[in-house]
Amino acid sequence: MSLYAIGDLHLHFQTNRVPRGQLKDRIWKGHEEKLRKNCLRLIGADDTLVLAGDHSWGRTLEECAEDFQYIMELPGRKVLLRGNHDMFWDANKTAKLNKAFAGKLFFLQDNYVTCQDYALVGTKGFTFEGPFYLNARGKITGWDEEKEAHARKLVERELARLRTSFEAAKRDGCRKYIMFLHYPPTNLLEDESGFTAMAEEYGAEQVIYAHSHGESRFHDSILGEKNGVLYRLVSGDYLKWTPALLF
Ligand SMILES: [Fe+2]
Ligand SMILES: [Fe+2]
Repeated sequence: MSLYAIGDLHLHFQTNRVPRGQLKDRIWKGHEEKLRKNCLRLIGADDTLVLAGDHSWGRTLEECAEDFQYIMELPGRKVLLRGNHDMFWDANKTAKLNKAFAGKLFFLQDNYVTCQDYALVGTKGFTFEGPFYLNARGKITGWDEEKEAHARKLVERELARLRTSFEAAKRDGCRKYIMFLHYPPTNLLEDESGFTAMAEEYGAEQVIYAHSHGESRFHDSILGEKNGVLYRLVSGDYLKWTPALLF
C-alpha cells in the first residue's frame, strides 16, 4: 500500500502537438519507456501512483486515448491531477470523467481518495509566472500588474477547490492529509501563499507539486521541510522518470 507520485508526462502517442523542444531534449528521449520500466520495477498492484498533471499533449479525450491507455497499463491504482495542459478535463465535469473511467483512473478535484490512513487531496493550483521585469543582474524589479491581478483570481478559485477537497475528506473523518498541486505552491516572488497556508491549516504532512520542468525551473518554489510540511517537486524530468516514494 505504498504511495508514489510523478508529474508532467506530456505524452504524445497519437498527437503531433508536442513542442519541438521536448523532441530535441535528451531527458525526454524514450521517457515513456523509461517511466514504464521504473513503474513496473517499483509499483505493485496494491500501490497508488499519483500523476500530478500535464498528462498528454492531446486536447480532447479522443486525442488522449492512446496516452490514457499507456497510463492505465501502468501498475497500481492511478490518481490523476489536472495540469494546465490537460484540455480534455473540463474543470466542472470531473464527476463525469470519474464515471467514464471508473475502476481504471481516478480524477482528483473537489474530491479525495484514501491511501492507508491518509486522505489524498488536491487541485491544479495556480501561480503568477510573469512576465517579470529584470535588471542587468537578473534581479526582479517589477512585473505585469494586469496579469498578476488575473492570476490572483485564478488562485482564489483554486483555493476554493482545494478547500472543497480537504472538507470532503474531513467530513468523512479523515485527519491525515497528503496535498497535491500541479502548479508549485509559491511563485518566484513568494515565500508563502494561500496554498502553503491551507496545507498548514489542515496539517497536511506533504505538499507534492509538479509543473516546474527544465533544470532552470527546479528551484522555483519550496523544496524540503517548512513549518512542519514537506514540499516535494515530482516533475518527471526532475525525477529522471522514477516515481517518488511518498510513503
Ligand atoms: Fe508540464
Ligand atoms: Fe504545467
